Amino acid sequence: MGSSGKSVLLIIGGGISAYKSLELIRRLKDRGLGVRVILTSAGSQFVTALSAGSLSGNKVYQDLFDLTDESEMGHIVLSRSADLIVVAPATADLMAKLANGIANDLASTTLLATDKPVLLAPAMNVRMWTHPATRRNAATLAADNIYFVGPNDGDMACGEYGPGRMAEPDEIVVAVERVLGAERGVLHGLKALVTAGPTHEPLDPVRYLANRSSGKQGYAIAGALRQAGAETILVSGPVEIAPPPGVKWIRVETARQMLAACEAALPADIAVCAAAVADWRPEMAANAKLKKQGGAAASIGLTENPDILATIARHASRPSLVIGFAAETDDLISNATAKRVRKGCDWIVANTVGAGYEAMGGDNNRVHLIKEGGTEAWPEMSKVDVARRLAVRIGEKLNGRAA
Ligand code: C5P
Repeated sequence: MGSSGKSVLLIIGGGISAYKSLELIRRLKDRGLGVRVILTSAGSQFVTALSAGSLSGNKVYQDLFDLTDESEMGHIVLSRSADLIVVAPATADLMAKLANGIANDLASTTLLATDKPVLLAPAMNVRMWTHPATRRNAATLAADNIYFVGPNDGDMACGEYGPGRMAEPDEIVVAVERVLGAERGVLHGLKALVTAGPTHEPLDPVRYLANRSSGKQGYAIAGALRQAGAETILVSGPVEIAPPPGVKWIRVETARQMLAACEAALPADIAVCAAAVADWRPEMAANAKLKKQGGAAASIGLTENPDILATIARHASRPSLVIGFAAETDDLISNATAKRVRKGCDWIVANTVGAGYEAMGGDNNRVHLIKEGGTEAWPEMSKVDVARRLAVRIGEKLNGRAA
């Protein structure tokens, strides 16, 4: 750890620009940051562990199966030992592994195991950077809230010209400070509660009532609020996606569990209810699997679930800004406007669902932001961009500044 109290885990991949990573170690240390280095075996073809170790003042980690390291500091601990992981140079190979969850060496395993933000400084031949496979991987990584700095345009060591040159050490230091500086973002000092995903309402031990929510929009919002500096609690129903870095993740199954987790998280300054909570649950969840009854159709008695959004909006510890979602198949604006009043929330993010609209499960969303004073129609954009824009609006509302 350096004098700033923060530290960086630097992964040096295999590329000619690895020599700039040695300079990067020095610049990071100059800023008071602690630095530990993982050197991949390809990286060690370009720079030595001795140089990286001397400059960082710490042991350099190279081998996943180094038993001494596993007993002193296992790779899981190493992956969480710093405030930020920087990959420089981030090769096409490292990006492909991270985008696809491949973990077959120390660097890739560390990247998969971490709960900290990750910043990539890509460096590769221009054709490799522009190849559709790398484009896909870069898009996946950006959607996963991985940060990028560069690459820059310029002459490349391989003799070609174009994007692919690793960002300069100074630019990487600026990006590092920006990511670490989330602590000082416009929502710094504020606490946000986000609900996401569906709820599962058990019918018997093997069946449940649920809906098609993927959780993508709510997770993106939790990530954007965290990036803007808010202490963020994400209360999530069962989904297939990982929580954004730095977010407190509470997993629940039913609406009643979600409500209890939300009430326990209060007080908060901001609440965003993006979960697609099941409106109804079976009156009774059977203890044993329900059997077919001689061809007669079973009937399931339903009882209404608590409305989490409405409860939070009328709570004694009501957050100063309460935001709900409305997914409507028709009369979007009038239904969502009525919902804003009925639920007692401040804003509604409204989108159209149903035939021809991909909001549920898709990566894009086209929403309207409905406030007391009027409605903003946002163009179609990725759910990550919807989340970022919403964080900006929240920052403006609560701080009078942009996030
Ligand atoms: O009434 P409707 O389900 O359309 O309202 C959607 C909004 O209310 C969303 O913000 C959703 O997260 C929230 N909601 C809730 N608890 C419920 C039902 C909906 O928080 N039981």
